[in-house]
Amino acid sequence: MSASLPPNPPPVTLRAFRPSDVPFVSGIVAEALHEHYEPSLYQSLSVEWNDGFLVASDPHDVPIGFLLGVTQVDREARVLMFAVERNHRTLGVGTLLMDAFLERCRVRGFRRVTLEVRVSNATAIRFYTRYRFSVTDLLRSYYSDGENGYQMALDLVAPAAG
Ligand SMILES: CC(C)(COP(=O)(O)OP(=O)(O)OC[C@H]1O[C@@H](n2cnc3c(N)ncnc32)[C@H](O)[C@@H]1OP(=O)(O)O)[C@@H](O)C(=O)NCCC(=O)NCCS
Repeated sequence: MSASLPPNPPPVTLRAFRPSDVPFVSGIVAEALHEHYEPSLYQSLSVEWNDGFLVASDPHDVPIGFLLGVTQVDREARVLMFAVERNHRTLGVGTLLMDAFLERCRVRGFRRVTLEVRVSNATAIRFYTRYRFSVTDLLRSYYSDGENGYQMALDLVAPAAG
């Protein structure tokens, strides 16, 4: 299932993560998700499933958003991190990333995609709901500051034959 793209998509390139992206990805994570991870984390996760770590870059090849997916359960993907740099939001970049990610999940034959989101993050919850993710669990004190999270999931249904 694909969300509709805005009428004038920005000049954005989607590509796989590269080690040189780490400073930019770290910056987006700090600003958008308020988290700080060891740079080596991004590298090691990208090796596990390179296709699942998608970067959206501007015309100068500077990352402006990314979606980092992992596979921890058989035939399931989990969106571990997903963020677009503040000045580039509501332009369709997140939609481009999510569309491409779900397509890769389908190509790999995954049956389900899961993610976690803060209960206060109305923007992201609305975004995921548009893709027909639904809440499957309430995760009490899931975040380090004590906030609850929702687990959300999307079942990937194979297109009808014929
Ligand atoms: C969630 C997030 C990744 C979405 O990225 P984005 O690039 O803003 O996503 P899009 O532009 O594709 O879509 C966002 C909204 O803008 C709307 N939009 C997109 N292009 C638009 C345009 N040209 N004009 C007006 N609205 C537009 C979309 O319809 C969508 O609205 P909806 O969610 O109410 O349906 C972004 O808000 C973000 O980085 N948030 C902070 C980090 C975060 O919360 N991550 C998720 C953690 S679980």
